[in-house]
Amino acid sequence: MLDVKDLVVCFRSKEGIHEVVHGISFSMEDGEILGLVGESGSGKTQTVLAIAGLSPINAVIGGTITLNGQELSLLSRHEMRTVQGRDISMVFQEPMTSLNPTMRIGRQVEEALRIHTKLSPEERKAKALQTLADVELPNPEAVYNKYPHELSGGQRQRVMIAAAIICDPKLLIADEPTTALDVTIQAQILKLLKKLNKTMHMSILFISHDLGIIRRLCDNVMVLKSGDIVERGSVDQIFNNPTEEYTKRLIAAIPSRKRGITTDEHRSYYEYFGFLEYDDSDDELEGPF
Ligand SMILES: Nc1ncnc2c1ncn2[C@@H]1O[C@H](COP(=O)(O)OP(=O)(O)OP(=O)(O)O)[C@@H](O)[C@H]1O
Ligand SMILES: [Mg+2]
Repeated sequence: MLDVKDLVVCFRSKEGIHEVVHGISFSMEDGEILGLVGESGSGKTQTVLAIAGLSPINAVIGGTITLNGQELSLLSRHEMRTVQGRDISMVFQEPMTSLNPTMRIGRQVEEALRIHTKLSPEERKAKALQTLADVELPNPEAVYNKYPHELSGGQRQRVMIAAAIICDPKLLIADEPTTALDVTIQAQILKLLKKLNKTMHMSILFISHDLGIIRRLCDNVMVLKSGDIVERGSVDQIFNNPTEEYTKRLIAAIPSRKRGITTDEHRSYYEYFGFLEYDDSDDELEGPF
């Protein structure tokens, strides 16, 4: 479905050219959920922005990116707009910065339909209401008429997801989509992504610092270190048998008991890595999504 070859991301500055992604290659299958992990500054965001054609203006991109046979790297920024929101969509960490505060939710959710389809306003509204229901927002009709500040953080993230999936994209890219949310809401959003992956056969490229989330959500994981892929494999492989020192360090960097972390989310780390045994009989975050 997605094929990335020798992807390079450089930044131009007064000091010269600074390469932050060093020719990485990987591919994704239809329906795959691929996790992208790596420490801060390792190039995760720049990698996915390049794929989505949303790199900063001072970035220089090299290599080839092919989505279902179409070579995106050959498209101009303008041509790339026909792909954005239709074939590839992106959800970011903080929905408040991606949503327009002065525009009603309905209009924002319909945006991609306005760009990519010839649907009438009534048809767009019907599709938007359906999609708001698909992302499990209660009372879609009311949400449709609200402004972003009238919603909670979790609801806003659902709205962002609705806007991203309304044209049924092949690939959804999610860059730390749940980091700003509390643990319970986080779990609900992950469950939703898993559902959309299953029901819409949408592939998901999912960035997270949180290896616990990656383990629960993803089929495969790719580990990025200073702009290079150092490891790629199934979730089981990487978590049970990390071959790279760096991956072992990332796993070891998972919060320890010393930091006094007591949330359910972090209990899963303890459970998984055997740091601590606990009774999970009433753990609502557990189980298949
Ligand atoms: N607009 C920019 N101009 C110059 N350098 C940039 C720009 N954006 C990012 N970088 C650099 O690119 C490198 C990779 O950044 P990137 O945002 O991809 O990291 P990341 O893995 O997503 O980190 P985090 O986990 O903190 O989000 C960093 O060294 C960063 O300083
Ligand atoms: Mg990032």
